[in-house]
Order: sequence, then C-alpha cells, then structure tokens
Amino acid sequence: MAQTEQTTSDADERDALIAQRCPYSDLVTTGGSREPLAGFAELDSLRDAGPAHTLGTGQIIYTTYDLVQEIGQRADVFHSKAVDPATGKEAPFVLKPQTLDGPIHVKWRRLLASSFSPAAVARLEGSLRARANELIDGFIDRGHCDFAKEFALRFPTTIFLEHIIGLPVEELDKFIAWETDIMHPESTDPAEAFRIPIQAQTEVTEYLSQILDERRKTPAGERGSDLISRAMDWQIDGEPIPHEDLLSFYLLLFQAGLDTVAASLGYGFHHLASHPADRERIAADPSVIPSAIEEILRVYSVVNISRTAMTDTEVDGCPVKKGQHFILSLPAGNRDEQHFPDATTVDFDRTEISHLAFGVGPHRCLGSHLARQELAIAYEEWHKRIPVYEIDPDIPFDESRSLVMGLRSLPLQWDPAAVRR
Ligand code: HEM
Repeated sequence: MAQTEQTTSDADERDALIAQRCPYSDLVTTGGSREPLAGFAELDSLRDAGPAHTLGTGQIIYTTYDLVQEIGQRADVFHSKAVDPATGKEAPFVLKPQTLDGPIHVKWRRLLASSFSPAAVARLEGSLRARANELIDGFIDRGHCDFAKEFALRFPTTIFLEHIIGLPVEELDKFIAWETDIMHPESTDPAEAFRIPIQAQTEVTEYLSQILDERRKTPAGERGSDLISRAMDWQIDGEPIPHEDLLSFYLLLFQAGLDTVAASLGYGFHHLASHPADRERIAADPSVIPSAIEEILRVYSVVNISRTAMTDTEVDGCPVKKGQHFILSLPAGNRDEQHFPDATTVDFDRTEISHLAFGVGPHRCLGSHLARQELAIAYEEWHKRIPVYEIDPDIPFDESRSLVMGLRSLPLQWDPAAVRR
C-alpha cells in the first residue's frame, strides 16, 4: 500500500514537473517581412521564451544549442523525414539521401564522399572565380545592384548548372525561376503558396529526368566531368542506382545547394554593408575571410531542419510521442547566449566556432566544403573589385522566412569611380 502511494506521488510529481518544464506555446510561423533581419529576431525571442514550442502546424520547434545538438545526434530515434512546413505533415516526395536513415544512408554518403571532398572542390576554384567575376562585370559600372537577385542567387546556380548537371549557363533564368518558386513562393494566399512549389518541383523533376536519359545515351567516352555524367557509373551493393533515386538526389542538390549559399551570401553582404569596420577588414586583409565566413554562417544561419520521432521518447525531461514532427532551429541554436557569449555579435576573432550552420549528426551538410569555397571566392573577388559599398536606404529589402531563411532582395550601391574594372 505504502509503495502504491509512493508510486502515485512520483507520477504526480513528474506530471507537475512536465507541466512546469514543457511550456509549449501555440506559435505560428510567419511569412515575408520588410524589417531587416526580422526572422532572426523572431527566433531569438522564441528561444528566450523557452527551449521548445509547439507551432500552429503541430510541429515542436527546439531553439537552444544543446537541444538542437542532442536531437540531431540521436539519429536512431529522430529520423530525417521530409515534412511540409506549411502543414506539418510528412511530405510526399523523397530526397535521397537526406530523407533516408540507417545503413542505406551510410552507403549513399560513402558513394558521394569523394565528389564533395576538399580535393574535388579545390579543382573547381578557377571556374568559380571566373563565374563570380562575370557576374560582377554585369553591374560594376552601374554603381548599384540588387545583390540578392543579381549575384547571390545566380552565383551558386551557375555552379549547379556547370558542374553538377553539366548544362550551359544559358539555362540560368529557367533554374532561378524554379528555385524561387520552390523555396520562396511569392504568394500571400496559402493555397497558392502550397501549389507553386509543387508545380515547380514537378517541372524540375521532369527536366532533370530528360537530362539523365540523354546522358545515359551518350557514349561513356563522350560524357563530361559533371556529376550527372559521373553518376552513370555509380553503384550501391553492386547495382547501378535506379533512375528515380538519381533524380531524387539531383532534386535534393538543387534544393540544398543553391538557396542556402544564396541566403548566406545575402545575409553576409548585408552584414558587411552595414558594419563598415568588418567590411574594411576583409577588403584590407583577405586572410581574415575564412574566420569571417564561419562567424557569418553562425550568426546568420539560414536552415531550420526537420526530424520525426520514431519511438515514444523524452527530450529535456519532456515526453515525446512516436510520429511527432520537429523543427530544429539552427539559427536559434547558433545565437544561444548559453553557448556563445555575446552570441548575436559577429566577431572575426572568436575562438569558439563549433557552430551548427551545416547541421549536426549523420545528415551534416554533404556540400559544406563546396559551400565554404563558393563563399570564400565570392567575398574575395567582390572585395578586390568593389571594396566600398553600402545598402541603398531608399529601397526596402524583403526577407523570406520559411525553413530556409533568406533575403529576396538586397539593394547595394557604390561609387563607380572607386572600383577595379
Ligand atoms: C551555406 C551553404 C549551406 C548551408 C548553410 C547548408 C546547410 C545544410 C544543413 C543544415 C544540412 C542538414 C540537413 C538535415 O540535417 O536535415 C545540409 C544537408 C545537405 N546539404 Fe547543405 N548547406 C549548404 C550548402 C550546400 C551545398 C553547396 C550543397 C551541394 C551542392 C549541399 C548539399 C547538401 C546535401 C546533399 C545534404 C544532405 C546530406 C544528408 O542528408 O546526408 N549543401 N546542408
């Protein structure tokens, strides 16, 4: 009898503790904003209000560095299924290997490792520098540009076309339109905002499918060095990769590798244009660029990632049901004062740099070396030629806040007499 009473009081105590420690609030994600960096401010206040919140879609969002890291590393329990941010439901499409887990995910990562290694990425350096300069040539004499549209989005997309799918850059505008529709559909009507990305995804998939078919018909000796051509010889468990699986991989690269780099560049150049001391330091001493990139990636992390609980479990003392969908907010975690003192300040001399911008656990970004190389070359080439610039105060810029945050526009201006042509 005494034991039963004890058990009941333990359970009551636990329920009380849960009620006190798991103050999930009913928050709804919001869309675009004319306020500079409103998305980060929103995530900061969410984290300051508590480590976990239930969104209007039913997903739980985790906001602290420690919880994001813990859940990202518990990949056996928290799987990386694709979840539609608009509905909180499992998405109908599969992106390989991101939405795979366990041994098959490991096999994909082994297969892809050499194509995304530092050595493979280093071989692209010359062509990346040339592409960056071609884009700068397009607007340098004008003394102004929309950095987000004319550089940040176009630069990684040219690299995707040239080195990943092996197409001429003339296809650029078509790909940019698809990318914008998938990642940042411009509609205030929720039904349209849901329909536009699915339509664009269908079109990209059909297009990439044709390219794969064509490449398969090209004799091996006549194929290029792009990633689609090389994939014709890939195997897992001694079998060629099925067409549908390759397609889902290229769709993932399209979604993972373009918008993220564009968003990082947008926030980075917004920071430098509004912090002259940091901009001057980069222009005067390019050797600081690698540290600057890490700090900019940390303070302006752009990706919020999705996970799903595969069993009933606990997080931070709170019960979690099998099937529960989560968002791990890398931006909120990376700006957590408990982990990084003065967390929202970009400090090129910071020594603690273990940030989460590229994710955590087995799904950590496959393209991080390529991303760092693209960012480094963009910062280097730009500052060699346009060392002094500022934000045009008369044109408002537009921020998109979905799972991947980003600036839809960033008007920069400079003195055309003070540039290197
Ligand atoms: C600044 C730029 C980038 C950022 C911030 C970024 C961020 C991320 C993050 C946070 C993840 C983890 C997703 C998760 O755990 O669910 C991820 C995964 C991935 N990224 Fe990136 N990424 C960037 C650039 C790139 C580039 C350039 C590529 C390739 C072209 C790429 C390819 C991938 C792939 C394939 C995955 C899935 C890996 C897996 O599931 O095993 N990323 N990225």
